[in-house]
Amino acid sequence: MEKLMVTGGRPLRGTVQISGAKNSAIALIPAAILSETTVTLDNLPVLSDVAIYSELLEELNAPVIWQGDQMTIDPSALLSKPMPNGNVKKLRASYYLMGALLGRFGEATIGLPGGCNFEPRPIDQHIKGFEALGARVSTENGSLRIQAKELRGAKIYLDVVSVGATINIMLAASRAKGVTLIENAAKEPEIIDVATLLNSMGARIKGAGTETIRIEGVDSMHGCRHSIIPDRIQAGTYMILSAATRGDVVVDNVIPKHLEAVTAKLQEMGVEIQEMDESIRVIGKPEYESVDVTALVYPGFATDLQSPMTSLLTQTKGTSILSDYVYSNRFKHVPELTRMGAKIKVEGRSAVIDGGQLSAAKVKATDLRAGAALVIAALTVPDGVTEITGVEYIDRGYDHLVSNLSSLGAEVWREQD
Ligand code: EPU
Repeated sequence: MEKLMVTGGRPLRGTVQISGAKNSAIALIPAAILSETTVTLDNLPVLSDVAIYSELLEELNAPVIWQGDQMTIDPSALLSKPMPNGNVKKLRASYYLMGALLGRFGEATIGLPGGCNFEPRPIDQHIKGFEALGARVSTENGSLRIQAKELRGAKIYLDVVSVGATINIMLAASRAKGVTLIENAAKEPEIIDVATLLNSMGARIKGAGTETIRIEGVDSMHGCRHSIIPDRIQAGTYMILSAATRGDVVVDNVIPKHLEAVTAKLQEMGVEIQEMDESIRVIGKPEYESVDVTALVYPGFATDLQSPMTSLLTQTKGTSILSDYVYSNRFKHVPELTRMGAKIKVEGRSAVIDGGQLSAAKVKATDLRAGAALVIAALTVPDGVTEITGVEYIDRGYDHLVSNLSSLGAEVWREQD
């Protein structure tokens, strides 16, 4: 196992290129198996989760050629087979194989997902969607077995706004008979990205990005070429990191509209932001105002940036309150930040953060975004070396992390633990 070593206290300066969105990529790769011919994905991030997904497709007899940021998937000889264990357990997003295989073959048996389990993350809304489309769903030895004689379009109201359930239902409904309406759908940019790919493959989806999505099922789907949207969470993390180190970083290859909530919050704190067509320059200041932040579904402030934001809020001169209304207890980064001297109290769904100088410590990333929070915190510490274990979590979502940070002037390196 590796650990990340960080000597902070330097303002980061320069330009960082943002890669394609992880949370799009790991939905687009399984979406490709709804096609009967070859699908090519461009602007793919080079991440461990993407590597695991490509192995999953190989297991299903869909050969994958992955070179740099491009992946070609050939699902023409795809097999319908149970996937109870192994790689499916390493990845939360393996649940997208349920919707994709159900759409393609009318059946799927998939081990219940693993991944970043910072709190119990139910999939009842996915199941509700599959059942509404006419599938029978049962649990067998830790796997979900989903079977349908025929998938039929239906009106599905999601009780909880869920990115995963919205995408999974879109996947299965693309090949159902008739029209499906998803009401109270998630509106994240990744939903639009998946719908764009599916439509290029021959699906008929309207309304992605709004709370009502209409899917008219089609009999067959074909290959296409698709470029993945930029990763707004990776971009937001570098924006926060620039502010936290009082740096001056241009975050390039982004869609600024996807980052409005974080831009607005940074400006409210006193960070200077310059927005260009495809990049955002973030200029840090010596002092910041405390602010209150609430993580909500899109277009609200992203829950995935809540942990990185916690670290930035330790750099203000007052007290900030940060609440998460997507997850009820996504605060595993807080005890680790406390080891670094942060003054944070968690009260229900909120963290109350008093500003103050952090110090070097040995800390542990417990999930992907908690890891990002620790890297940001470590970069603000002027003396000593912070050791971060659990790097494998950070590698799930931040490609080229060490080289990107080094090119911005950070002193960061990996060591064997
Ligand atoms: N929920 C339910 N029932 C369901 C599905 C979700 O109660 O059937 C609840 C969840 O427990 C949560 C809320 O609804 O409280 C939202 O969950 P959602 O389904 O939207 O999350 P997800 O699809 O499992 C994706 C991202 C997460 C990101 C969330 C919210 C992927 C693979 N993961 O998860 O990303 O936090 O949307 O935006 O796309 C990350 O990148 O670090 C990460 C965790």
